[in-house]
Amino acid sequence: MRVLVTGGAGFIGSNFIRFLLAHRPTWQILNVDKLTYAGNLENLKDLWDHPGYRFVQADICDRSLMDSLLSPPQGMDAVVNFAAETHVDRSLEDSFGFIQTNVVGTQTLLEVVRQRGVGRLLQISTDEVYGSLGPTGAFSEESPPCPNSPYAASKAAADFLLRAYAHTYRLPAIITRSSNNYGAYQFPEKLIPLLITSALADTPLPLYGDGLYVRDWLYVEDHCRALLQILESGRVGEIYNIGGSAEYTNLAVAQMILHELGKPESLIAFVADRPGHDRRYALDCQKIQQEFGWTPEHTFPDGLRSTIRWYVEHEDWWRRIQAGEYQEYYRRHYGPRLSAAADRGRVER
Ligand code: NAD
Ligand code: TYD
Repeated sequence: MRVLVTGGAGFIGSNFIRFLLAHRPTWQILNVDKLTYAGNLENLKDLWDHPGYRFVQADICDRSLMDSLLSPPQGMDAVVNFAAETHVDRSLEDSFGFIQTNVVGTQTLLEVVRQRGVGRLLQISTDEVYGSLGPTGAFSEESPPCPNSPYAASKAAADFLLRAYAHTYRLPAIITRSSNNYGAYQFPEKLIPLLITSALADTPLPLYGDGLYVRDWLYVEDHCRALLQILESGRVGEIYNIGGSAEYTNLAVAQMILHELGKPESLIAFVADRPGHDRRYALDCQKIQQEFGWTPEHTFPDGLRSTIRWYVEHEDWWRRIQAGEYQEYYRRHYGPRLSAAADRGRVER
């Protein structure tokens, strides 16, 4: 089996490639990644010499290049599309790159997959397309998309394009929508690695608003296991939710991390909220449970402990990222928020 994985130098994509080669050692994987600020070839350093792994630096919006990668003689049996701009906060600053990669890039892949008759396309989408929930309930695959951030809107637009291609051209495509992932190799701008690396560096752990926003956390290896099952046996034209059944407030996650690392809760800083912040996400995952018997194998406390250990043992990895473009992003995004929180603290004291 020859699989083209896009965005394989990012967090979930790199975990997925490692998972595939561990469980399907005869498969040939071609990783196509533009290497944006979030792409890091180091994430797959252990596989550079693996005979089943190849890497090409390319933009999924580059139609002729994508066409050449999917056409004979190399051809591909399947495409798994992880490539995306993925950070909600960055989409609030500037959404143009999100529309380009997440919408135009997906459309480019759909067109090339259609023309080259590729046997399967797996589109990695997100629960954020459904929008926000109140304190109860969960989104099923039948829930109507109602995206609230530019990031979520770009992913929903890609899902609609995919649906249209599957309907009109009988394109053999499947959409998966997972909840928030966490685990090794996650870029430190996302909540869990941000909190872990901040705690390790004894710097403030920024929580937006009241910190009581709820996310459902999915350990990345559980996600990869579900994706392989769907890639091999999922029904074309379908949507599959993949959730972690682990709802926690952001405050609870911060407290667990601080407790595990033996750091004081005084490191938590409540900062100005994210505009349009979705209050709660939760997924109804009966479909994937019934079709594949899939459920998460890792509890959140266990997965979080392993993840903390990974960041403790890979300080070089995240320190190198923090020394680059990330520094400027952090200053721009958190500088004014953290100063305002510190001033508020001084007034209250
Ligand atoms: P990530 O930001 O860590 O990685 C994205 C990768 O895509 C990077 O390697 C980047 O270089 C690459 N990329 C970006 N634009 C590209 C382009 N135009 N052409 C080729 N490569 C490009 O993201 P992630 O967290 O690993 O997410 C992967 C996918 O999973 C995304 O589609 C995201 O929407 C989806 N998803 C993520 C989560 C989560 O919690 N992280 C949850 C649900 C769904
Ligand atoms: P994030 O990791 O950005 O994922 P998403 O917005 O896609 O769910 O954020 C997860 C939650 O953590 C979300 O409720 C926003 C919150 N958050 C903070 O409170 N502080 C932060 O600095 C970040 C990055 C996120």
